[in-house]
Amino acid sequence: MTTTPSTTPASGRIPTRRLGATGPRVSALGLGCMGMSALYGESDRAESVATIHAALDAGVTLLDTGDFYGMGHNELLIAEALRTAPAGARERALTSVKFGALRTVEGDFTGYDGRPAAVKNFAAYSLQRLGSDHIDVYRIARVDPDVPIEETVGAIAELVEAGHVRHVGLSEVGADTLRRAAAVTPISDLQIEYSLISRSIEEKILPTARELGIGITAYGVLSRGLISGHFTRDRELAPGDFRGMSPRFQGENLRRNLDLVDRLRALAEAKGASVAQIAVAWVLAQGERRGADVVPLVGARRRDRLAEALGALDVVLDDADLAAIEEAVPAGAAAGERYPAAQMAHLDSERS
Ligand SMILES: NC(=O)c1ccc[n+]([C@@H]2O[C@H](COP(=O)([O-])OP(=O)(O)OC[C@H]3O[C@@H](n4cnc5c(N)ncnc54)[C@H](OP(=O)(O)O)[C@@H]3O)[C@@H](O)[C@H]2O)c1
Repeated sequence: MTTTPSTTPASGRIPTRRLGATGPRVSALGLGCMGMSALYGESDRAESVATIHAALDAGVTLLDTGDFYGMGHNELLIAEALRTAPAGARERALTSVKFGALRTVEGDFTGYDGRPAAVKNFAAYSLQRLGSDHIDVYRIARVDPDVPIEETVGAIAELVEAGHVRHVGLSEVGADTLRRAAAVTPISDLQIEYSLISRSIEEKILPTARELGIGITAYGVLSRGLISGHFTRDRELAPGDFRGMSPRFQGENLRRNLDLVDRLRALAEAKGASVAQIAVAWVLAQGERRGADVVPLVGARRRDRLAEALGALDVVLDDADLAAIEEAVPAGAAAGERYPAAQMAHLDSERS
């Protein structure tokens, strides 16, 4: 017998987790706002603001963005949402901001800049767009290969000292870079792709983060919608949609990956949950299994998707459930890399 998936956390307000040993306490699920401005086709501004408001209202406190998401568009959107949110929700909200990506007017990505002067310049512009006197967690999106990570995080540490930033984070770095950065300044969390079909961090990066007391904010927990249960083989993507060039969404790879989703769907139905909820709950469970240090970011762009994702907080996966899920979708089962080759080359996490 199947039951209808819950779409709001029945348990009331969202539980919280601390990001690493030194980071802030945040809601156990964060809202990733990228898709409201970039990479997944057209979005609706009013619905985006309403989604952020609904998240804050439900108890989500962590809002993730990047200054390059829509070239400032995403930060301005978050600023508008916070300005128009009830005071209590606004005060509880924490911003996690990525910087460093260099782009052309056409939107092409041309590299990363982690020089200390650039870090401070990026921060000044972000603070202005966010309409805030501080950023809660600040991180370079990808390591600048021409600038030692010590210099980049050292510059953020100076912003912390000056009161402009509260915590230093990292994004898509490997174990060696984690160690080097943590030797300079406390690191709250590493933001990195982690999902049922992207598990490469388990071998070296996750244990190193745990050893160093660094939390994980996991992105792509639905693999950009691929394992949400809503993606179909014949879905048409808008020009510029990241998924149009992502290896996992192409031809035979897409067919094989959606076969994995079908296997997950059967388990989800038996659990009375949706596929997306199972995928999010699996990531949440990795934190609980190993010390409550994984906070998934969900990339909901609409209130209905958000409500579904929040419902994952009520999905309890026991050891037998986790084993069944991992048998249905074994580690390494995904067809295709998680990024196109040119973008894989920027991932320090894939090297060390
Ligand atoms: N550090 C980094 O390098 C990095 C990279 C990428 C992203 N991020 C951050 O992580 C956040 C999340 O990443 P993501 O958006 O790629 O990941 P995601 O949560 O795996 O995918 C989001 C997409 O899944 C689809 N979806 C279907 N059902 C959903 C549901 N119930 N809840 C949410 N989404 C659902 C949505 O598309 P439809 O509504 O069209 O179905 C949405 O566009 C981003 O917003 C960004 O802040 C960080």
